[in-house]
Amino acid sequence: MRQKWQLWIGGKWREAKTYEPLYNPHTNEQLTEIGQAEPADAVEAIVEAHTAFQKFREYPAHRRAKILARAATIMEERSEEYAKIISLESAKTIRNAREEINRTVQTYRFAAEAAKSNYGTQIPMDAAEGGEKRFGFTTWTPIGVVTAITPFNFPFNLVAHKVGPAIAAGNSIVLKPAEQTPISSLVLAEIFKEAGLPEGVLNVIPGKGDVLSEALTTHPHVKKVTFTGSVEVGHLIQQQAGFRKLTLELGSNSPFIIDEGVNIDKVIERSVLGAFSNNGQVCISIQRIYVHQSLYEQFLERFVSRTKQLVVGSPLDEDTNITAVISKKSLDRLQSWIHEAVQEGATIECGGNVEGNVLYPTVLTNVNRDSKVFRFEVFGPVVCVFPFATLDEAIKDANDSRYGLNSGVMTPSIERAFYAAERLETGGVVINDIPTYRIDNMPYGGWKDSGVGREGVKYAMEEMMEQKFISFKIGDE
Ligand code: SIN
Repeated sequence: MRQKWQLWIGGKWREAKTYEPLYNPHTNEQLTEIGQAEPADAVEAIVEAHTAFQKFREYPAHRRAKILARAATIMEERSEEYAKIISLESAKTIRNAREEINRTVQTYRFAAEAAKSNYGTQIPMDAAEGGEKRFGFTTWTPIGVVTAITPFNFPFNLVAHKVGPAIAAGNSIVLKPAEQTPISSLVLAEIFKEAGLPEGVLNVIPGKGDVLSEALTTHPHVKKVTFTGSVEVGHLIQQQAGFRKLTLELGSNSPFIIDEGVNIDKVIERSVLGAFSNNGQVCISIQRIYVHQSLYEQFLERFVSRTKQLVVGSPLDEDTNITAVISKKSLDRLQSWIHEAVQEGATIECGGNVEGNVLYPTVLTNVNRDSKVFRFEVFGPVVCVFPFATLDEAIKDANDSRYGLNSGVMTPSIERAFYAAERLETGGVVINDIPTYRIDNMPYGGWKDSGVGREGVKYAMEEMMEQKFISFKIGDE
């Protein structure tokens, strides 16, 4: 590991005024030192990106696609090295980190394809009186400088969901990675340099969000802001960004409904994975499980028993399932939410205990609907389980949320599946699997406080472009 990382601006490493140590969240050992960008660095990066955009916008799609495909291949060839970086800086288990790199490779490959499939639409002009002898069509053009602010939980792949579409569209980017996981993004800068991306198209400036956010959201060269993170920061960014195009991927407290007649054998493993993968630090982690009353006792017993078998250990051990959460601050918040839930009537079925920065996977029942573990996004290894009597009741409860990202429904009945899918107030409904299911070309984004806009490469790309309508009058009449 390098001893210190500078800022990546205009295709070169630049000295930062200050550096801060970066620690491994699991061992608390110092990994390296990270240059901290200041607002002046952000402005410099934006100006470099703006200059680079003037040339890059002229790059033909096949060249942009080649760069993206090359970057994907480099990542694939060095996947073990990059998985280890994810694991060291975020405490993600090495198996999950490898999965993330595989997904990232695919995401950049989807972006390479999207660059070549940037179709407009032909408009039937003669459908309106006065449209005769006219030919109309739309085109999509790159928007300019995109600023991207990314989270710690998928430091390669959620960055790819912003950088990939931006490059595919012909834009330039200033990327501010999560404070906890900057190395993945700094490494990415070198990958894209090697892949042939022109200087200044990708700039990476780690630093503190509150210090950098104003420059990144209000500078006149910035045409699009894309952010993944908390609702609170999302609101602030929305206020700062004004009329700029905006994508906000915010939180959720995803519901999972297990309907009557479901074979419990088929849901235990998936439920445990959906609730505790990456220590529950996933926007579509299962936070609320609704189980039909006929299956409730049986489900709860087996779910708790399987949860207790999860292996707590070092992120780099092949057998580990549960590791440290991202920070002491996060651990303290989780503990206080659990404590509060218990005071408000909840029962701890398992977990709730702490060792180092690890919170043991926690299953709660009898949770009060006003408790924070129900109302807000937990973003940790904590799940609430409830019985329900009718599907309508489960849907009503699932919709009793300020969020609406993904929901999941297990049911043997196709009628009930469609009934639930129509009524659930979420951007995605996953039938016969957990809400945590995601592949990287599907539209992904939330209703309500879960955000605005969609990711999933082609959808993100559209949100990073301007649409233009062009009409031709044919003949002199
Ligand atoms: C997220 O936490 O929003 C991303 C989940 C995923 O990509 O699997």
